[in-house]
Amino acid sequence: MSLTLNSPLDMHLHLRDDAMLSHVAPYTAEQFAGAMVMPNLLPPLTTKEAIDAYRKRIETATGRDDFRPYMTLFLKETLSYERLVELKPSIIAVKLYPSGVTTNSDTGLASIDVEGLRPTLEAMSELDIPLSIHGETNGFVMDREKEFMPIFEALAAAFPKLKIIMEHISSKEAITTLDKYPNLYATVTVHHLLLTLDDVIGGMLQPHTFCKPIIKTPADRDAIQRAVLSGHPKIMFGSDSAPHPKEKKESAAGSAGIFSAPVVLPLLADFFDRHGKLDLLQGFVSDHAQNIYGITPPEHIVTLEKAEWVVPEQIFDVVPLFAGQKISYRLVK
Ligand code: DOR
Ligand code: ZN
Repeated sequence: MSLTLNSPLDMHLHLRDDAMLSHVAPYTAEQFAGAMVMPNLLPPLTTKEAIDAYRKRIETATGRDDFRPYMTLFLKETLSYERLVELKPSIIAVKLYPSGVTTNSDTGLASIDVEGLRPTLEAMSELDIPLSIHGETNGFVMDREKEFMPIFEALAAAFPKLKIIMEHISSKEAITTLDKYPNLYATVTVHHLLLTLDDVIGGMLQPHTFCKPIIKTPADRDAIQRAVLSGHPKIMFGSDSAPHPKEKKESAAGSAGIFSAPVVLPLLADFFDRHGKLDLLQGFVSDHAQNIYGITPPEHIVTLEKAEWVVPEQIFDVVPLFAGQKISYRLVK
């Protein structure tokens, strides 16, 4: 059995830079027609020049006409209307990181104050530039996303024309909030869709499933699964694939981030198939994102077949999600 997907999109991706970029980017480019690339490099991407130069490095690393990087700007300071007009041709969204919540987010916003953000967010609304948010507080690790919900609500209510993307949602509370405001949207990762905290710390410690937001309870996972399997048009796929070298993960102070890029579409095909919902996969991995962002990605047909394979233990110096495990779908190259 095989299935084809038209121009799949990964709407949340970390590609890194230099050698890591050149090793990981081809895995995404072979499976996707485009990806929204996160700006949390060191230093973060805060200028048009840096973003345009990074896009060129990504294009060199992928080397395909049927893959388009959709770039983002790291929000650090007030952005004037004029500055956003200049930036608009180079970006698909502005990314807001609360400071300190994840990898390379130290220079993010120390506090999220709706009135302080008003000039930037009104200009973005007018220019139709979406705001992508890592929605976590600095509170107790299992509650950080839940505690951020009032901030999503305040922003959605204050800027009703602004598209706000709740990135990598991991909790049942996020699903409830998503449905309260028409201008809230969400990405879901394959790891928050399939795993629970037991897959991180339930047995021997699994550093390669450690990420932010932390993977949560069975009830949270089930709420995310129900929403995705309902064909929810405001939910799109974003892998949050975030490679770190093996020694940075298997360490006394391990980095947060899961390298899922090599396995995401096979895992999604298996998941939708097991639930008898393969017909909804195209919407989740492409159509919803095209509608939400108003983008038309390059033509890129991807074929998957139902055939078992074993995920490599290591790719370059990174351990991928499901390393050494069997997956029932594989990419036809
Ligand atoms: O686990 C994560 N890793 N979550 C993020 O939000 C960032 C990412 C990274 O860049 O490593
Ligand atoms: Zn991310």
